[in-house]
Amino acid sequence: MRTVVSVVERVVETPSTVTLRFDDPRPARPGQFVMLWVPGDDELPMSLAYVGARKGVTVKAMGGTSRRILDLPVGTRLGVRGPYGTSFDLSPRRILLVGGGSGTAVLAPAAEAALANGSTLTAALGATTKKELLFEERLRSAGATVVVATDDGTAGERGYVTGLVERLLADSPFDVVWTCGPEVMMQKVVAAAGPRSVPVVCSVERHMKCALGMCDACALGPYHVCVDGPVFPAERIASLPEFGRTKRAPSGRSVPA
Ligand SMILES: Cc1cc2nc3c(=O)[nH]c(=O)nc-3n(C[C@H](O)[C@H](O)[C@H](O)COP(=O)(O)OP(=O)(O)OC[C@H]3O[C@@H](n4cnc5c(N)ncnc54)[C@H](O)[C@@H]3O)c2cc1C
Ligand code: FES
Repeated sequence: MRTVVSVVERVVETPSTVTLRFDDPRPARPGQFVMLWVPGDDELPMSLAYVGARKGVTVKAMGGTSRRILDLPVGTRLGVRGPYGTSFDLSPRRILLVGGGSGTAVLAPAAEAALANGSTLTAALGATTKKELLFEERLRSAGATVVVATDDGTAGERGYVTGLVERLLADSPFDVVWTCGPEVMMQKVVAAAGPRSVPVVCSVERHMKCALGMCDACALGPYHVCVDGPVFPAERIASLPEFGRTKRAPSGRSVPA
């Protein structure tokens, strides 16, 4: 069912990313998403970056609609459907989180919940440049050990976050890896964790329309990302020919992922 909410807070997280907070008491679990409707514009799936009664979505400027969401002021009324989809299992004790760019948005509430439950968590965050690192301080404040990599070397190690992941997995035992980001990054995370038998859980994105498992817009192999995901054990999706390679455009055409 759709509800109408008002934006009560707007936080600029990075030059290309803004968090909008709104009050919605419906229960939500870390990993779930909502369908955010901007009246007069479009409806987009957005992960919940905050899952409590004061919810939040963290939006990165991509195309026209997301860019317009970034500019919405406090007081704007939005339609919200959901929350939908699968969530992270918070029971593992030693967690490695791997966030690429805005992918960290969906991982942050899961990290906070797991740390509050007594798990330990190392967060490896990747971004193009220091100013685009998302939720580094939020995760540190929650008790995570945070390491970073930037493409240009302006913070942490220069290069891709997957280089850090290789070393972290070699040096420390983890019960699970949670990851969200570009699929090529998640593929590398799966490849690094496989030989060490550490299970990986991925949060994936596909174009969505109904979010109810009915329209097929979000197909990923035999799955509908809106109901079977977006949080998947990697073993279910990593060997699918589409993963890391193709996705469907709004027209239904297959395009590079
Ligand atoms: C379950 C789920 C959760 C999501 N959570 C978030 C979130 O928390 N924050 C957020 O900012 N977005 C999130 N998205 C993506 C979001 O729904 C939109 O796809 C994105 O905002 C772009 O929409 P647009 O209409 O502005 O751009 P479009 O007009 O759809 O795209 C403009 C350009 O950006 C490219 N593009 C679109 N989406 C992506 C992408 N995800 N990665 C790389 N390139 C892309 C397109 O190929 C195109 O070249 C999520 C998607 C799903 C399915
Ligand atoms: S968005 Fe319609 S089936 Fe998933």
